[in-house]
Amino acid sequence: MESPFVPSKNHFAANEEPPKSYREFISTLPRTKGWNAEDDLYHYQGFWFHPTFLDGIMSAQDYFKAQPSDILICSTPRSGTTWLKALAFAIVTRNSFDDSTSPLLSKVPHDCVPFVEMDLSHGSSARDPEMPLLATHIPFSSLPKSVLESGCRIVYICRNSKDAFVSMFHFARRLEIQRNLEPLSLEEVFELFCEGKCHYGPQWDHVLGYWRASLERPEKILFLKYEEVKEDTGVYVKKLAEFIGCPFSPEEEETGAVEKIVKMCSFENLSNLEVNKTGKHREDTPVSIQNKVFFWKGKIGEWENHLTPEMAARLDRITEQKLGNSGLNLVRH
Ligand code: A3P
Repeated sequence: MESPFVPSKNHFAANEEPPKSYREFISTLPRTKGWNAEDDLYHYQGFWFHPTFLDGIMSAQDYFKAQPSDILICSTPRSGTTWLKALAFAIVTRNSFDDSTSPLLSKVPHDCVPFVEMDLSHGSSARDPEMPLLATHIPFSSLPKSVLESGCRIVYICRNSKDAFVSMFHFARRLEIQRNLEPLSLEEVFELFCEGKCHYGPQWDHVLGYWRASLERPEKILFLKYEEVKEDTGVYVKKLAEFIGCPFSPEEEETGAVEKIVKMCSFENLSNLEVNKTGKHREDTPVSIQNKVFFWKGKIGEWENHLTPEMAARLDRITEQKLGNSGLNLVRH
């Protein structure tokens, strides 16, 4: 059924005939070959998007209303979103559940935190009013206006470009295999990634948008790196809890509440849960995914087993050029 929520004039020039649907508008945008056999990527507001997600982004830009109490978990794909959702969810629900009753034991973290461009677009308000957490991959410059106007808080996670690329490649590959399609080769998608052509890419521009915003408004945007969280998860769990507004009390710290959350949300624990080995996310929809695809290696530096030294050097060069003197390093590790 066609959505009753139609594109607002924000998306096209004032003198143009308004498109009847986001899909119609998307079909007019510049496009490029995507990372799977069936879908192209479309260029919108400086980034490349899969059409299903772009449809939701445009609708969220028109209709999504953020609340001042919202905590928005933002990232580029394959940078630690699943993990950050689990950590944040465990932190905010720790008075209702413990490490033996948490919904994280029976649901993939993506089913615990609504995804703005899929779950809260097209007028859907399918959210629990008690749950402040939301997630999105929307670039900072394309966030719905209400996010900045509401003053809600944002937690962003990024990852070094080589691991993020290798993780993206394996994710796309496993999705194609799941759909009985022939995956693109590593070399093909490497070229696309270097040109910035990936889901929500260029990765560097995405990260820079949130990095600069976090420098301007550190009280509203907490900027995290996968590698730093991995190396000292407990420190970041405490930082995250403080930022979200529910710091651990001295009693909680003494009784090991932080360590319990670290352990429950660890790669080893989550990836071995039955639900994450055999369950499906968005079952019976065109974007259904086996939960196990969200978990692969969960390591720093896995790129060394997949990229040639030439590929790694080229990606490092592009990353250094793109990030320039921003003060951000996505090459190390
Ligand atoms: P790898 O593919 O390198 O293993 P996202 O959730 O943003 O898509 O990021 C996915 C990456 O985070 C994958 O990396 C995945 O294995 C890793 N990951 C998932 N859960 C994790 C956890 N609990 N701890 C650490 N890494 C995790």
